[in-house]
Amino acid sequence: MAVDVRSLTDAWAIGDVEIPGRVVLAPMAGVSVQAFRRQGRRHGAGLVCSEMVSACGLGHGNERTKDYLRIAADERPLAVQIFGSDPGQMAEAARMCVAAGADIVDINMGCPVRKVTKTGAGATLTEGGAERGARIVEAVANAVDVPVTVKMRRGVENGSRDFAVAGPRFEAAGARALTLHPRSAKQMYTGTADHALTAELVTLVSVPVIASGDIDSRERARVVLETTGCAAVMIGRGAQGNPWLLQSLREDRDVTPTNEQVVAEHIRFVRETVRELGEPRAVHFLRKFHAWYLRRGRFPRTLRQELSTLQTTVEVEAALLAAAPGAAPLIRQMEADIAALDALGDDAELDLPISLYGGG
Ligand SMILES: Cc1cc2nc3c(=O)[nH]c(=O)nc-3n(C[C@H](O)[C@H](O)[C@H](O)COP(=O)(O)O)c2cc1C
Repeated sequence: MAVDVRSLTDAWAIGDVEIPGRVVLAPMAGVSVQAFRRQGRRHGAGLVCSEMVSACGLGHGNERTKDYLRIAADERPLAVQIFGSDPGQMAEAARMCVAAGADIVDINMGCPVRKVTKTGAGATLTEGGAERGARIVEAVANAVDVPVTVKMRRGVENGSRDFAVAGPRFEAAGARALTLHPRSAKQMYTGTADHALTAELVTLVSVPVIASGDIDSRERARVVLETTGCAAVMIGRGAQGNPWLLQSLREDRDVTPTNEQVVAEHIRFVRETVRELGEPRAVHFLRKFHAWYLRRGRFPRTLRQELSTLQTTVEVEAALLAAAPGAAPLIRQMEADIAALDALGDDAELDLPISLYGGG
């Protein structure tokens, strides 16, 4: 059903979960850690999502990863995304996510990565009349009392229209919202997201539709909202190292951070990531983020290279501060905020392995 969105700050709802804004931060494997989700909330996302969590890994505890999903009160409302192919296993995983604090359980039906699709999970669940996908939605919706949602692509093959069959089936099976990334799985991230398909899906279902794909500016968000009738826009790659995009959408004005703001924000992200993952893993995890942040502001070209070689986050902070010494007072302010997080003390750590192979 088409929604006439007047402002991205409008509250809306998925099932009975109220969402304070129509900008949603996308689930991104290898990116959407708690620090990223918290940053998204601070900068105006109404809803944030965990990266995909393996239902099978949960069942057997056998994924080759030591990543654990942490959930905290100040990132809610939070959707936790699960992937898998077995309805019973997915239902059990959903129960665990809800017990740990998920407000919404999202089912991944968009992952194009072969390691996932070859197990019958991810994007393949929209194939064949979406029969298998619908069985999973039904099992998960019956297992938990929070809203269950689905994130999908247009289908697996180029030109596929599986979404048009799958969307109504998932709604009938109990999905309370659908996110469409209108590329095929075969396309991965090439070509463009065809939001004419999002507009079509909106006419086929009565639950809210969230539009995902290539929304990287206010102008693009406006066009997608106006031409599709979607209930909300989801921002993925555009928010990598650029939480100001979320803010600019929410506040409907351009937001251009100063060098000092970029450095302060990144240092906050570095510290929260260390708090979450521990120093050795954070050093490695953060490397891609350095390049993303340095695309904002104006920094010496050599800084990116320098940051990628440093072995401790203390050195990373020092190099960043040397490039923008004026960030120091901003960082002092943030320190109080981070200390307040620790005082909250209500992190739940969900003993769920996060996928190594994410995508969607
Ligand atoms: C690095 C990366 C990881 C992703 N991981 C997931 C994931 O775990 N689950 C999912 O549903 N989609 C995942 N996606 C897809 C995004 O959520 C989003 O649908 C897609 O990137 C298109 O939006 P964008 O153009 O705003 O990035 C991922 C995308 C990227 C770039």
